[in-house]
Amino acid sequence: MSNRKMITAALPYANGPVHIGHLAGVYIPADVYARFQRRSGKDVAFICGSDEHGIPITIRAKKEGVTPQDIVDKYHEVIKKSFSDLGISFDEYSRTTSVNHRKTSQDFFKVLYEKGKFTEEMSEQYFDEQANEFLADRYIVGTCPNCGNENAYGDQCEKCGSTLSPSELINPKSMLSGNVPILKETKNWYLPLNEYEDFLNKWIIEGHKDDWKPNVYGQVKSWLTDGLKPRAMTRDLNWGVPVPLPNAEGKVLYVWFDAPIGYISFTKEWAEKNGKDWKDYWQSENSDLVHFIGKDNIVFHCIIFPAMMKAHGDYKMPKNVPAFEFLNLENDKISTSRNWAVWAHEYVEEFPGQQDVLRYALLSSAPETKDNNFTWKDFQTKNNSELVNKFGNFINRVISFTNKNFEGKVPNGTLDEESKTAIKTGIEKVSYHLEKYEFRNALNSFMELVDYGNLYLQNAEPWKTIKNDPNEAGQSMFVGAQIAAVVAQLCEPFMPFTAEKLFGYFNIEKKNWEELQNSEIQIETGHKIEEAPLLFTKIEDNVIEAQIQKLENTKQSNKKTNSNANPMKEEIQFDDFTKIDLRTATIIEAEKVEKADKLLKLTVDTGVDVRTVVSGIAESFTAEEVIGKQVMILLNLAPRKIRGIESQGMLLLTTKPDGKLSFVTPDDSNVENGIEIG
Ligand code: 2FM
Ligand code: ZN
Repeated sequence: MSNRKMITAALPYANGPVHIGHLAGVYIPADVYARFQRRSGKDVAFICGSDEHGIPITIRAKKEGVTPQDIVDKYHEVIKKSFSDLGISFDEYSRTTSVNHRKTSQDFFKVLYEKGKFTEEMSEQYFDEQANEFLADRYIVGTCPNCGNENAYGDQCEKCGSTLSPSELINPKSMLSGNVPILKETKNWYLPLNEYEDFLNKWIIEGHKDDWKPNVYGQVKSWLTDGLKPRAMTRDLNWGVPVPLPNAEGKVLYVWFDAPIGYISFTKEWAEKNGKDWKDYWQSENSDLVHFIGKDNIVFHCIIFPAMMKAHGDYKMPKNVPAFEFLNLENDKISTSRNWAVWAHEYVEEFPGQQDVLRYALLSSAPETKDNNFTWKDFQTKNNSELVNKFGNFINRVISFTNKNFEGKVPNGTLDEESKTAIKTGIEKVSYHLEKYEFRNALNSFMELVDYGNLYLQNAEPWKTIKNDPNEAGQSMFVGAQIAAVVAQLCEPFMPFTAEKLFGYFNIEKKNWEELQNSEIQIETGHKIEEAPLLFTKIEDNVIEAQIQKLENTKQSNKKTNSNANPMKEEIQFDDFTKIDLRTATIIEAEKVEKADKLLKLTVDTGVDVRTVVSGIAESFTAEEVIGKQVMILLNLAPRKIRGIESQGMLLLTTKPDGKLSFVTPDDSNVENGIEIG
């Protein structure tokens, strides 16, 4: 058995905060596993970081009107903080824009290049001539050939859900300029995945039929049955890790090439800080690599990344890839764009000190084998009926009874056979299930021990025996204390904040699993147990109703809002707004600009002065039509030359459903020119 565990959790895209779906389907189970392996005496590296390249980032940046760097800087911090607030115990949480990651992924690429593992292929890609950029599939919009949706993307139609390629779109347009893109030849480097089919078949299909989850195994098998094709490992984009070859300007590594290498880069960063050798974790027989991911990442972690590592030659294949299904919220798919989510950072703020309640609720409905559902009502029940009434109640009985009747000291007693067995079975079952990535079963086994503890006290009734037979009551509390101490130990991987509290109340240290298994008596007679507040508190109906209402508001506003509208740009301060000088004005002269179909040259009375503005409205208005129109002008915009004419300001315009422009005008026709708007 390997002594090291190299545990990774899928790198979240730094294009938005993390939500309960991410937590339940990757990060909390991964954390439980890492904590358990540490306690089992393994040398663990638990590694993650933000995935900061790729189209999801640039799309978000375009929508918010900021740079990709701004986006990743912002969300990297938000995500990192949420993980730490929720007790996700990464040994390293880094980011793929780090200098080290750039070098590591470029070096990896160079090894494959020098070994001749890539093929160079020319292909035709859509290109936006005005923006002078190749277009990622997501940047092309057009009409879906299947359902007629006019806003389908080059890779997918979000209306009918079909997967598309840009060449299938009717009337494709570039999202960058709105122009029709042209097809242009470009060279890229491909990894011939087809050449790895035999290897993958042997390693996974023959080798992991019994120990990998059926959902993972099944998906890999179906990919392999369909046959693999060469896949481009480079892209013509300007956001990503530059391809480290001469004559490769404007090309970056495919985000799914660089992102998984992030696991390696970040291990290097951690190893360097901690005096370790990263290769011991990635390239040694004495190390198990385990990837925690969501089901949409299976192909990348079971086919592409292993093929990359195989091509490289120095790496060990993953031991397991526990992939989770998806979590729904109140019976509806979690969606970032529809804001249909419970956001980790909001939960932490709205439920202070209750991180473990969320960990518990999400673990007990973790989408292990099929999609699962989170509801606020369930969350409340789990807290009130399981954590408060069972776990909290058991602990509280032991602590308060011992303090009230035995001066807070564990009374004299012996451990009966039945309790001994219950404890032993509890420890064994929790370990067994965690070793097999069965988090829900592990949590259930833990709760079975809690139930046993409650039942034991229920039957022993020390609150009755204390009156006539204090020794008997002491004996019961001795057993109660042993169970409680084991419960405290076992709950640590699942609920680390609660475990910390319990270690404090019981004055005990965190033990490793073996020690736990081998010591019959956990807490000796005379050992001090502190007085303590209740471990969990009831969550009232109004708190849950407020959360349900919040989701209801989201639903209503999704109904009302225009699904085609771009999301809000980045927030600005009032001071930023006051810099803008908007005025009422009137167009007093207008003429077409020669050889420019779209432009009119306007003379505008701004109330402050009379000036020239060149405006791109000629396809919506004739010159005659606009003379005399009252408009709104951005007065203090720096002048710029358009077709040799200096344009001094900008008129406010909006677009009608037919695509024609219309002026933003004052509601009242009696407004003078030069009046400030704001
Ligand atoms: O699907 C995602 O959110 C990706 N950012 C996961 C990347 S995992 C890895 F390979 F880095
Ligand atoms: Zn469609």
